Amino acid sequence: MVKITETILRDAHQSQAATRMTIDEMLPIADKLDKIGYFSLECWGGATFDSCLRFLNEDPWDRLRKLRKAMPNTKLQMLLRAQNLLGYKHYADDVVDEFVKKAIENGIDIIRIFDALNDPRNMERAMKATKKYGGICEAAFSYTTSPVHTTEYFVKLSKQLEDMGADIICIKDMAGILLPYTAYELVKAMKKVLKKDTQIHLHTHQTAGIGNLTYLKAIEAGVDIVDTALSPLGNGTSQPATESLVAALKGTEYDTGLDLIKLNECAEYFKGVAQRLKDDGWLTDKSLATDVKALIYQVPGGMLSNLVGQLKKMNALDKYEQALAEVPNVRKDLGYPPLVTPTSQIVGTQAVFNVLSGERYKMITAETKGVLRGEYGQLPAEPNPEVVKLALGENAERITCRPADLLQPELEKYRKEIENYIEQDEDVLSYALFPQVAMNFFKYRQANKIKIDRDFGDTQKGIQPV
Ligand code: CO
Repeated sequence: MVKITETILRDAHQSQAATRMTIDEMLPIADKLDKIGYFSLECWGGATFDSCLRFLNEDPWDRLRKLRKAMPNTKLQMLLRAQNLLGYKHYADDVVDEFVKKAIENGIDIIRIFDALNDPRNMERAMKATKKYGGICEAAFSYTTSPVHTTEYFVKLSKQLEDMGADIICIKDMAGILLPYTAYELVKAMKKVLKKDTQIHLHTHQTAGIGNLTYLKAIEAGVDIVDTALSPLGNGTSQPATESLVAALKGTEYDTGLDLIKLNECAEYFKGVAQRLKDDGWLTDKSLATDVKALIYQVPGGMLSNLVGQLKKMNALDKYEQALAEVPNVRKDLGYPPLVTPTSQIVGTQAVFNVLSGERYKMITAETKGVLRGEYGQLPAEPNPEVVKLALGENAERITCRPADLLQPELEKYRKEIENYIEQDEDVLSYALFPQVAMNFFKYRQANKIKIDRDFGDTQKGIQPV
């Protein structure tokens, strides 16, 4: 039997519609979703936290409590960028601990933890905290291709993450570039070395149109759980559609056991939500088209549209192909980081600068320097020494320890800064991650006299052993 994680409340609208689904659009269907029998429902983390505060005037913690209350029988899952939490830099350990604790306390059951560089040292603290506060720890590695990213490399990494306490290992193919037969080989090889009760979870995107094929081969290789999204926000840049995969596996040894009629009822509801997102310009035909560029250039779809945006701003859209071709060069120079938040932006921007300035590394961004200095963690391979010299100078000191070891505790400082606005412990975390945006939200909340509702029902119901 294959288990399904439904992503419609998180990755699906993040990938297709700029993370603009609101809690009011989620709640009317929550009860039906809760009765489907999914392995889990991904509904929090990733970009949703930022989007709630920045665009939707929603308290992300309040969203989580409402979802928890509305779906007491399904395990709720979130995506966490390890030591970066849901922000874009490393946070001190006290912030990581508190964040994980509060996420679980407010209703999260499973935390999927990944690091852009696949540096286990960056994942350790969040993984430990997840176990400490009673959550299910799903450690993910960012799948990518490069001379160093071989099947052996990922198998070794999986074992290491399992040894660090992961209950589930996730292959996170954020760009949708994992090929079906590679997936088969990878899952088979992982199964061989992982413990019997460590489940393997596969996450891909249908961007290049191969997601379903990749799932099928991974399922044949014994993958335990896959991520899908109900069809109104499935396929395209999102996950393969839930209903299609459920139907395809029906009556086989891999049967998901999910009811197509019930799934279709939920899908009917989300057609309305998708229409609203279309009407407001968030969901466009582009996010539904098959785009093989990800396969050609090995970059995530989101990065392609970022490149276009950046070049447009600089009035240099004619340099698109050139910038795109420069991405693999920069990646190689930086030691082959996987392209995922935040490394995708860093590599993309540097590639644009290399092309526009007419000379490679004539301009080097602070972030590129940071990557080379080791501020983001250990790079998968040695960076180009020439580029290191250009960026950091001769004999520059590089960070070799876990970057967060250099950070002092910071929670109390943040708590002081928002003294006059704090209405719940969680506010400190919102502020720590997005100071300006959270402050604007606190002011909005105060002005509109919005009360905190902490009633989230029986949180224990969702948590069952995996
Ligand atoms: Co994804």
